[in-house]
Amino acid sequence: MRVMVVGGGAREHALIWKISRNSSISKIYAAPGNAGSCSAAECIDIDVNDSEAMARFAEDNQIDLTVVGPEAPLTAGIADVFNAHGLRVFGPGRDAARMEGSKKFAKEIMQKAGVAAAASETFTDYAAALAYLDRVGAPVVVKADGLAAGKGVTVCDDINTARAAIKECLVDKRFGPAGDVCMIEEFLSGPELTVMAFTDGETVLPMLPAQDHKPALDGDKGPNTGGMGAYSPVPKVNAETYDWIVDNVLRPTVDQLTAEGINYRGVLYAGLILTDKGPVVLEFNCRFGDPEAQVILPLLESDIVEIMMATAEGNLKDYKLNWSDRMCVAVVMASAGYPGEYRNGAEITGLDNLGDIPNVIVFHAGTKRVDDKVVTAGGRVLNVVGLGRDVHEARDRAYAGVERISFDGMHFRKDIALKAIQ
Ligand code: AMP
Ligand code: GLY
Repeated sequence: MRVMVVGGGAREHALIWKISRNSSISKIYAAPGNAGSCSAAECIDIDVNDSEAMARFAEDNQIDLTVVGPEAPLTAGIADVFNAHGLRVFGPGRDAARMEGSKKFAKEIMQKAGVAAAASETFTDYAAALAYLDRVGAPVVVKADGLAAGKGVTVCDDINTARAAIKECLVDKRFGPAGDVCMIEEFLSGPELTVMAFTDGETVLPMLPAQDHKPALDGDKGPNTGGMGAYSPVPKVNAETYDWIVDNVLRPTVDQLTAEGINYRGVLYAGLILTDKGPVVLEFNCRFGDPEAQVILPLLESDIVEIMMATAEGNLKDYKLNWSDRMCVAVVMASAGYPGEYRNGAEITGLDNLGDIPNVIVFHAGTKRVDDKVVTAGGRVLNVVGLGRDVHEARDRAYAGVERISFDGMHFRKDIALKAIQ
């Protein structure tokens, strides 16, 4: 079987790592991949947002399954183009991907499905948005409706920050058309939790829960990032809460989409806050989380290729997922300056020096091979993943791996997964 994985981050490296364990795989392409995935797959230099070019490549190279990692090609409709060409693709079509591509659309689905969501209003008019803000006050959260590369959300502690965020979105057009609609949302507090599921629009197969670490610095300080680390499962979330989320968030959302004629096939990601009054949804994504995938896929004992094929074919009802009973922790190593400006091209050393630490996997994010060296090529550079019997062992292994690796200006959080212990 021949598989193509679309995307070039650590999530896609983790997918390739997992897919390559299926013995019927004869070839994996990574589009465009990175220095890590290119040692496990053949990397191709192609514009992943050009769906027609991607489909032509898949046809010319007899690809049996294309797995789409990032949200941009999904919301642009890559799955629809592949389906129109009769090509098998894992990932939702454009309509279904609006669950991530439009926060307003996701709220409408949640409201109709009776799913607990943070209270919000959306605006296209600046004066109306400001008037609403004056009524609700701070703290409050201001969000661009569309995709904004992780920069569209501002958590505002005071009213002036909120005013400035609304102006950036609706007047200054900082996010372009993605900010034509601005959402003002109630601020919620509590631990965050990610629960994802495979779904073919009918069957929902939930994955283990995970917890991301969004802020850049220890103690959840500093600016928000794409995620500085994660762990799975989440010992503080009991079976009752987890089942509640599956039954009251994921299933009704998929059912609602189906009722509206939208057949969701792929991974549905629910990002939640566990408030005093129960779990509340902050956002949906139309794909695997990053870095959540990097801690969940190593724990998945089922064959992911079979599951993804069945998802793509609408045939998931006879499948179940088997999980390791271990714990998995990922620590992200980032470039100096990230999530602000950073420079590429720093040489990474120590990657070949991990063989004697058991149960450590390095998934590359922003890396590139230049001659015989691996250099940084992104804000998030590496995910060092440790597996262990418990959170202590998994953390110790991940950080033992981090200790061996070095590049100029690197930074990482030292408290990943401590919330699972304290
Ligand atoms: P998002 O881009 O929607 O994942 O939001 C980024 C981060 O902003 C989330 O992971 C939360 O930490 C925070 N956030 C988003 N919405 C809210 C909210 N309503 N209340 C509190 N924090 C929020
Ligand atoms: N970890 C958050 C996301 O993938 O959007």
